[in-house]
Amino acid sequence: MDLREALYTTRAMRRVKPDPVPVEVQARLLDAAVRAPSGGNAQGWRFLLVDDKDQIAEIGALYAECIDMLWATVYKDKAAYAESSDDPEAKQFKKIMRSVTWAQENFATYPLLLFAFDQFDASGGSIFPAVWSAMLSARADGVGSSLTSVLAFKNDETLSVLGVPADEGWRMSCCVPFGYPTGTWAVAARRPVHEVSYRNTWGTPVGFEIDEPLWP
Ligand SMILES: Cc1cc2nc3c(=O)[nH]c(=O)nc-3n(C[C@H](O)[C@H](O)[C@H](O)COP(=O)(O)O)c2cc1C
Repeated sequence: MDLREALYTTRAMRRVKPDPVPVEVQARLLDAAVRAPSGGNAQGWRFLLVDDKDQIAEIGALYAECIDMLWATVYKDKAAYAESSDDPEAKQFKKIMRSVTWAQENFATYPLLLFAFDQFDASGGSIFPAVWSAMLSARADGVGSSLTSVLAFKNDETLSVLGVPADEGWRMSCCVPFGYPTGTWAVAARRPVHEVSYRNTWGTPVGFEIDEPLWP
């Protein structure tokens, strides 16, 4: 598929079908992941695919608790604002909350999870190019994905379900559920480039305005 189409339409696809993700698709997404850059080419990563239904259900129970914790802590004010306002930002957040609630209620039906771990990477930045490459590779095969980091609230419990050794410095970076979408792909709506970009010095306009996505 066209690279730009993948870049523009790879969204947080939380609503997916329980149909299995073929092993060839799994192989391609992991092989794409390990082609990604990492600081010093250290490749200090491990990838763990989970398709065991009992384990996914166990992780799902932890995920549900983590989401409840998220609404009660980090996103407490935003969630209250989303419930009480009708402005576009509140509407957008309400949409995300509905989608996340779907994931919370249906986590056990996900056919495949990818956990990514890094080791001794102080920046924490070396793992995400690989994770994004895996998500793009899945997109090319028509498979949706959604990056989640919220299981960090239940880190030790999650590592225990996965049998991760506690003494080797592996840090869980994220969990990415995969599956065939129930809906359709669409271009991500975002704050436009000229509102978040500068040229040469902080605050100086970048020199162009992009009111509509440049793809398609
Ligand atoms: C580092 C990181 C952590 C994220 N953690 C979570 C998460 O814990 N749970 C979740 O449902 N989505 C999570 N997301 C997904 C974002 O909510 C999503 O990318 C964002 O809302 C944009 O969605 P869209 O691409 O569908 O527009 C995370 C994304 C990133 C990049």
